[in-house]
Amino acid sequence: MKFLHISCLSLFLLSTITMGAMAQINQLAPPVMGWSSWNTYRIHINEALIKKQADAMVSQGLKEAGYLYVNVDDGFFGWRDENGKLQTHPERFPNGLKCVADYIHSKGLKAGIYSDAGSNTCGSIWDKDPNGVGVGLYGHEKQDADLFFNEWGFDFIKIDYCGAGQSLALEEQKRYTEIRQAIDAVCNRNISLNICRWAFPGTWAKDLARSWRISADITPQWESIKYIIGKNLYLSAYAGGGHYNDMDMLEIGRGLKPEEEEVHFGMWCIMSSPLLIGCDLTTIPESSLELLKNRELIALNQDPLGLQAYVVQHKNGGYVLTKDMEQKRGKVRAVAFYNPSDTICSFSIPTTQLELGGKIKVRDLIKRQSTGIVTNKLVYELPPHSVKILRLEAEERLEPTHYEAEWAYLPCYNDLATHPRNILYAPLKDASGGMIVRYLGGQAENYAEWNEVYSEKGGRYKLHISYVPGTDRKLEVEVNGKKTMLKDLQTDESKGMAIITLPVELKAGNNVIRMCSPYCWAPDIDCFTLEKDI
Ligand code: GLA
Repeated sequence: MKFLHISCLSLFLLSTITMGAMAQINQLAPPVMGWSSWNTYRIHINEALIKKQADAMVSQGLKEAGYLYVNVDDGFFGWRDENGKLQTHPERFPNGLKCVADYIHSKGLKAGIYSDAGSNTCGSIWDKDPNGVGVGLYGHEKQDADLFFNEWGFDFIKIDYCGAGQSLALEEQKRYTEIRQAIDAVCNRNISLNICRWAFPGTWAKDLARSWRISADITPQWESIKYIIGKNLYLSAYAGGGHYNDMDMLEIGRGLKPEEEEVHFGMWCIMSSPLLIGCDLTTIPESSLELLKNRELIALNQDPLGLQAYVVQHKNGGYVLTKDMEQKRGKVRAVAFYNPSDTICSFSIPTTQLELGGKIKVRDLIKRQSTGIVTNKLVYELPPHSVKILRLEAEERLEPTHYEAEWAYLPCYNDLATHPRNILYAPLKDASGGMIVRYLGGQAENYAEWNEVYSEKGGRYKLHISYVPGTDRKLEVEVNGKKTMLKDLQTDESKGMAIITLPVELKAGNNVIRMCSPYCWAPDIDCFTLEKDI
């Protein structure tokens, strides 16, 4: 009896642990890796073509490197029959799509499909695809979900917004929520959803989707790569917990210069974007293939912490970004030195600014070479349109003292431009890092939050807040739920940046600091520093 009791208990514990671990694995699913048909083929796809790309994914060693999804984008649509059931394109997919998904699965890969939140696809508008009219999800949510996921067996869906936005003027959050609910109602597998609304849609997206597009469509030109990285530089607060900012499908192997391809892949990796290859895998240049298979960069993208790197320095036209790897607040961090400019850029950053101390081992992840040991600072000169991506392993991890406004989580932030004057990250020359947060306050929900303000031992600190003076502003600072209203703020706008200091008590570990003003505007915030009050 005793034995039975113990084994039941251990079984229970084991299953609880396994379930816990599974929940964690599910929750922290890494960014999707695979291939998608759009960049090279647009709507001109067919059964043989998709199967050939699935074959190449295996034969080129990409499956082995971690690329799993083969995604059929726009172009497969036929029409709806008298019962509303979606049919595939008669010439491109005469045998339907189940055989395509089955083929992909037979290779040990996963299959992705595409639709629109409205009635018409983007291809019907931009590529004049007559078959793209009336075939979107609108009014057919459950019917199509049943077809895509139960009958055909797809695992992933990208949901575009051309029809929903242009002809039906639907509201994004409501529309994508209805679709997510319809999918979950008919399918008991965990379908990976991508929101394709070409701008950061809002903090609600993480409750529905594994990733969401943040930009207009990518093209195989340097300007496009630079524009998308620029759009993602200050969105790190929204990636995490298994949800990611999608910088769009890769244009590697489609004519960019070698250093530009390194920027493209390296930045997509350190920013934890989905990695969906967009070229013809059967003719991909060898150097591009090697880059896509760089295991150290892939490990950076698929890192179990699932974090997006944030900007710690913006000087001389260059950006330094960093994120923790392997363990939060551990001694390993990834760093990117990114030069988007058209001239050589000199970088110099004290290692303390990266919260690292002592001797630091440096490994170049693009070159896959260890490049020695540094102390005190990292200094590089980088050519135009280039990046250096490093893995740093330090002797010590230092307590942070500086927090930028542009790292804050803003629950009311979106990039849809439907609510003018909503809270946002904005450039300001005199601000530290060249960025501030604007339009903070006016309602209790419109706050800025730093949820990992770290103190090693806890205790009393002086919180120095740097802000832009303005008339009729108040600032409420909340530290772990304890609120203080700051009224005596500098109002003289001609004096430049001002600093106000508040004594605070931090606990050991992570603290949550919020800044707001529930009834009137708060001043624009630049950054804050913490000074131990001994
Ligand atoms: C939009 C999307 C693209 C692609 C096309 C298909 O433009 O942003 O990625 O899916 O639609 O028509």
